[in-house]
Amino acid sequence: PLHRIAVIAGDGIGQEVMPEGIRVMEAAASKFDIGLQFDRFDFASCAYYEQHGKMLPDDWKSRIGSHDAIYFGAVGWPEKVPDHISLWGSLLLFRREFDQYVNVRPAKLMPGVTAPVVRRDGSPRQPGEIDMVIVRENTEGEYSSIGGRMFPGTEREIVVQETVMSRIGVDRVLRYAFEVARSRPKKHLTSATKSNGIAITMPYWDERVAEMAKSYPDVTVDKFHIDILTAHFVQRPDFFDVVVGSNLFGDILSDLGPACTGTIGIAPSANLNPDRSHPSLFEPVHGSAPDIAGKGIANPIGQIWCGAMMLDHLGYREAHDAVMLAIEAVLRSGSAEVRTPDLGGKGTTREVGLAICQALQR
Ligand code: NAI
Ligand code: MG
Repeated sequence: PLHRIAVIAGDGIGQEVMPEGIRVMEAAASKFDIGLQFDRFDFASCAYYEQHGKMLPDDWKSRIGSHDAIYFGAVGWPEKVPDHISLWGSLLLFRREFDQYVNVRPAKLMPGVTAPVVRRDGSPRQPGEIDMVIVRENTEGEYSSIGGRMFPGTEREIVVQETVMSRIGVDRVLRYAFEVARSRPKKHLTSATKSNGIAITMPYWDERVAEMAKSYPDVTVDKFHIDILTAHFVQRPDFFDVVVGSNLFGDILSDLGPACTGTIGIAPSANLNPDRSHPSLFEPVHGSAPDIAGKGIANPIGQIWCGAMMLDHLGYREAHDAVMLAIEAVLRSGSAEVRTPDLGGKGTTREVGLAICQALQR
């Protein structure tokens, strides 16, 4: 079959890392005989906003809604468009309208990368010691629009924002997380909670975890309150395998996890609609990086890695694994020519992309 991919490079370094992502995807497609068609769109960028006064055309949903996946770069150019407009007017709309209720972020220490978190005795963490997947609820929870402000600007000012947990919403993300845990060698799932302090919604979350666990007797389950959990991420990241959290807790952990494994330039992310009623979106964790944009030195590995996740989602596990091996081979080589400056090298975005393609073809 031919898979149609909607490509949105967006702003800043999104425009620089996307061509390398596509280069590697095309190399993987030809190696594994996968039919991929890339349709490029210029909207969901601040450049589009400057021209049209909005982030998206009115018919955006019909233009990308029937694609098999969205391959996304980064959006945002704070000097020209305020971040709440660029983000809410594009990426956050996609997540909501396409019901991408799971956000997945692997946090894996790669060979040739120095983790900023060290062992108790001060020695460096080795690849393989940190290998976790963070699963975040992506559509409800603490990020609700229920609430408001009373008596604004007075001494009686009151601000309320409700957390929403639906049984369907909680169960579907938990089921996804348990399935991921079951598919991995350690079969270990950790739930982020705060049921000691947040005494209505979080005990409900815990209850649903315990209920779901009954269907997965092969998965080891534990839970930690979010405060101590963040400490454990830093002090013993080797303990974790799959970590699931509500929208807010998952948000925090999914930045902390990749931060524990090195540069933000290599971290990938997937916004999934596991029901496949709408396209899922694959993007690097990083943003548009205005400080280095235009220099050709952005690390393309985050873009390439999330492309590998896209191949996996489309059903090509073997192609995913091959792209990951190619990334690891290039990182392991340690050569300064094929490392961007964020990893201490002097290579360019393009050189890294080409090197990963070459490793893939070998
Ligand atoms: P950022 O991720 O763009 O940059 C943070 C720092 O990391 C910068 O010093 C940057 O140079 C570095 N960096 C990021 N990606 C890199 C890469 N691939 N290679 C090497 N170095 C890299 O975050 P920042 O500066 O807070 O945000 C800039 C813009 O991006 C804002 O408009 C923000 O709203 C937007 N943004 C968009 C996201 C998205 O599209 N999903 C995610 C995060 C931020
Ligand atoms: Mg975040």
